Parts: sequence; C-alpha cells; structure tokens
Amino acid sequence: MLPIHFAPLQGHTDDVYRRTHHALIGGIERYYTPFVRVEAGSIRSKDRRDIDPKNNANTPVTPQLIFSSCKELEYLLGEMEALGYTSIDLNMGCPFPLQARHGRGSGLLAHTDIVAEVAAIIKAHAQITFSVKMRLGWDNAEEWKPVLEILNDTPLAHIALHPRTGTQQYKGTIDMAAFEEFYNTCRHPLIYNGDLTTPAQMHEMEERYPHLTGLMLGRGLLARPTLAKEYLEERELTHEEHLRTLRTLHGKLMEQYAQIVKGDAQLHSKMRPFWEYTEPLIGHKPYKKIMKAGNLRNYMNAIEELR
Ligand SMILES: Cc1cc2nc3c(=O)[nH]c(=O)nc-3n(C[C@H](O)[C@H](O)[C@H](O)COP(=O)(O)O)c2cc1C
Repeated sequence: MLPIHFAPLQGHTDDVYRRTHHALIGGIERYYTPFVRVEAGSIRSKDRRDIDPKNNANTPVTPQLIFSSCKELEYLLGEMEALGYTSIDLNMGCPFPLQARHGRGSGLLAHTDIVAEVAAIIKAHAQITFSVKMRLGWDNAEEWKPVLEILNDTPLAHIALHPRTGTQQYKGTIDMAAFEEFYNTCRHPLIYNGDLTTPAQMHEMEERYPHLTGLMLGRGLLARPTLAKEYLEERELTHEEHLRTLRTLHGKLMEQYAQIVKGDAQLHSKMRPFWEYTEPLIGHKPYKKIMKAGNLRNYMNAIEELR
C-alpha cells in the first residue's frame, strides 16, 4: 500500500480544510498548502494565515512555494525558516497562465538556467528537506528531460509528477508513455499525481509501477474525502456513507468559516466550491441544484435533499 499525499488545491485545501479533513477523516501522509507567492514584495495576508504554524498544529503540512526567480525563492525560504518549517515543496507545475507566463510553476520548466540556480539554492539549504511538484513541461512534453537531469543531481525527498503539460491545464488525456519514461529516468522517490478517483485505479498504479513511493490525490479526494482511507483499509464505503461523510465534513467546515467570513453571501461563496468535483458521486441533477442554488438557503436545502 502506498502513502497518500493530498495535492494542494488553491481555493479548496486551505488550513481550515486540511485541519478538519485530518481530524475527521485522515489516511493522509502529508498535506501541501496551495502555493505561496510573492505579491508586491511580500506574502499575502490570506497566505500568511494559511501557513501560520498555529493554524497547522497536529497536521502534517508542507508549505508549497511558487516563484519566478531565485530572489523570490530566497525571500520565501527566509520567511518559511522564520516560521520553523523544515520541509518545503517547490511548485514547477502550476498551469495558470497568469503565473506560468511570468515564469512561475510550469512556466519555469522551459528555463533550465533558473532551474540550475534553484538546484544550487537547494544544495545551500541543507537544513531544509525539499520536494518538487512538476508537470512534463509548459507547452512541450519533452521539457522535463533537461530539468530532471539537473534535479537528479540535487538532494530531494521526492518528486511528484502530474503527467500533462501546462498548456493542457486539466484537459486531454494523461501522457502515460511520458510518465513511464520519467519513472525510468528519475533517481528520486517518485509520487504519481493525476486523475485518480477510485481505490481500484490506485491499486492498479501500485501494481503497475512497483518503484513508486506514493500517490498524490487532488480533485478525487475533494469529491470523495475518504478515498485515501478506503484505499488503505481496502474497504469501500456505500453511497449513503459517502453522502454522510460529505455532509459531516461540510458541516464542520461551515461552522468554522462562519467565524471567519462575514454574512450569508460570503459564506455561500466560500462553501460552494466544496462540491465542484462531486458530480460523478452525487449525480447530475443534485449537483446542478447545489451549484445553481444562488443563495445560502437554497444551497443548504439542495444539500439536505441529497439521496
Ligand atoms: C482548483 C485547483 C487548484 C490547484 N492549486 C494548486 C496549487 O496551489 N499548487 C499545485 O502544485 N497544484 C495545484 N493544483 C494542481 C493539483 O495539485 C493537482 O496536481 C491536479 O489537480 C491533478 O491532480 P488530481 O487529478 O488528483 O486532481 C490545483 C488544481 C486545481 C484543479
């Protein structure tokens, strides 16, 4: 059985979600914060709350950093060290054009000169354990090759690979041929990430790639929060149990967000994304009803009606 890592999902897996998921459900080896970046020379206050160790107590969390230059990376590392973090994940996979066009995330993969400088920074910070989360490239599924050559000679705890290019975003099929080539070339522990939504698919990956050291799940876990636990315990829950889990987790999150955001409209817009990937689990009609509820009361009613 492989350890399961909860992928960072901007707008979903914030500190409240991670803490609540860990306390209520579990089955996760490690959570990663959505990427933290430099904006106007500093870290945004929203991100500061997310990485504050007080808000991550008793939860295995690694902060993820996104950067376009070594100057940005050095600044962010200084901030993380000041907070006491000793494990850091580096984002070389984000496909959002706003970030990638500035050379951040998957946009970095075409700049091997910067990757080489990043490798030097990693080597100079021996007190920190680094990992990398990456894609195959920005617009070319071969870009990973020179990048991996550099990373293979850099101390890393693991690499998590999502085998798509940045320009593919989340569309099209996963490139398993490229994944296999990466798998055979990578000298670091490798974690597979992408499109896993059932325990059967997870077992298949484990059998097909015996040298994998973990699986990373994102949208699949949001839709089915017990997915890691079901895989590890080899017991699939029934439809009723899935709905009960979603309702309980949703209720606990709502209680906490009600303390943070102001008013019903804000609470509704904070909670609605929780259901974004649940359509295959709850069905088309109930999904549409939740997503199109328009206000908090209709939204709560739509959840109440789930069967
Ligand atoms: C809404 C959304 C936000 C994301 N935010 C991040 C992020 O902050 N950092 C990151 O490395 N990846 C981010 N990702 C990518 C996921 O971590 C993951 O690699 C991707 O969803 C594929 O895994 P999955 O098919 O299991 O969801 C995001 C993906 C989505 C859909």
